[in-house]
Amino acid sequence: MTNIKSIYLHVPFCTNICNYCDFCKMYYNDKFFELYYLKLLEEIKKYKVYLNNTFKTIYIGGGSPSSIGINNLEKILKILDLKKEDDYEYTVELMPLDITEDLLKLLRKYGVNRVSIGVETINKKYQKLFNREIDKEVLTSKINLTKKYFNNINLDLMYAFKDQTIKELEDDINYILSFDIEHISTYSLILENNTYLKYSNYKEIDDSISSQMYFYVKQKLESIGYKHYELSNYAKNKVSKHNLVYWNNEEYLGLGLSASGYIGDIRYTNTRNLDKYPLNIENERLNKKDKMTYFMILGLRKIEGINIKEFEKLFNKNIYM
Ligand SMILES: C[S@@+](CC[C@H](N)C(=O)[O-])C[C@H]1O[C@@H](n2cnc3c(N)ncnc32)[C@H](O)[C@@H]1O
Ligand code: SF4
Repeated sequence: MTNIKSIYLHVPFCTNICNYCDFCKMYYNDKFFELYYLKLLEEIKKYKVYLNNTFKTIYIGGGSPSSIGINNLEKILKILDLKKEDDYEYTVELMPLDITEDLLKLLRKYGVNRVSIGVETINKKYQKLFNREIDKEVLTSKINLTKKYFNNINLDLMYAFKDQTIKELEDDINYILSFDIEHISTYSLILENNTYLKYSNYKEIDDSISSQMYFYVKQKLESIGYKHYELSNYAKNKVSKHNLVYWNNEEYLGLGLSASGYIGDIRYTNTRNLDKYPLNIENERLNKKDKMTYFMILGLRKIEGINIKEFEKLFNKNIYM
């Protein structure tokens, strides 16, 4: 049996819906949560055999796991109250406006040791455009409160908006840098299908400008001492162990609406439809060639690239032949 050491659990609820976002999410609602939770318990039965393992990384993402209220969040944390390695990493994604002292205490109680917060931009013009209006003072107080409880924090930055200037981007980066946190994820805006932004005739910026901004972000963060270790990710000392599981093509259990997982020879994806969940809508059985392809595609996202010796050991094959 495969020795799964990582879990991703998807919580498909938010208190606010941003109009660029294509993640699987719905407005939080008691009834839908109850249904999701019962179905999650049903799904977990399928993977019971793995839950006695000792875990290296756990990641609760969304949506906004912080949007479901303390009691519901505790139900989820109880499911994931599993054996962990000494240097485990346990991350939960937080929408800034949901952050409270009680929420942070609860996360600590269940062994969460890393949180990831969406800052995106502090520019009021873009916040309004994206339906994500967060007052800068409130945002600052939420991040400072989080810093009292966690010393491994990621902040998300979004950039490459239509008409965004380098000065505006610099202001957002300086804001994020002012918190002196461990990790920064940077995403150029993708105009996703089925989003309000897409339907509202918003035009993506030119690739060449987006690329200039990518290098601006890189140069700025590296000059402050952040290491660029994956296309979108920078860390001072603590890289994201969980995300490295994906990029190193290691197995993981994926739970929850729309979640993906990789177990043995199968990569699977759950439905995004709450009525049909916990149905898998994709089950890709991988042969050796598929596994080599994933190893390369995922591994090349890392700035250090792939490990040739590891490739040859895993696949018993010379990489150049
Ligand atoms: C699940 S959210 C993070 C947690 C929380 N829901 C929040 O928004 O604060 C994941 C992140 O993906 C990024 N993201 C979402 N949609 C995107 C898009 N269309 N283009 C680029 N980045 C996007 C944002 O940086 C966002 O913070
Ligand atoms: S960006 Fe975060 S808060 Fe906004 S809709 Fe997506 S998951 Fe929800």
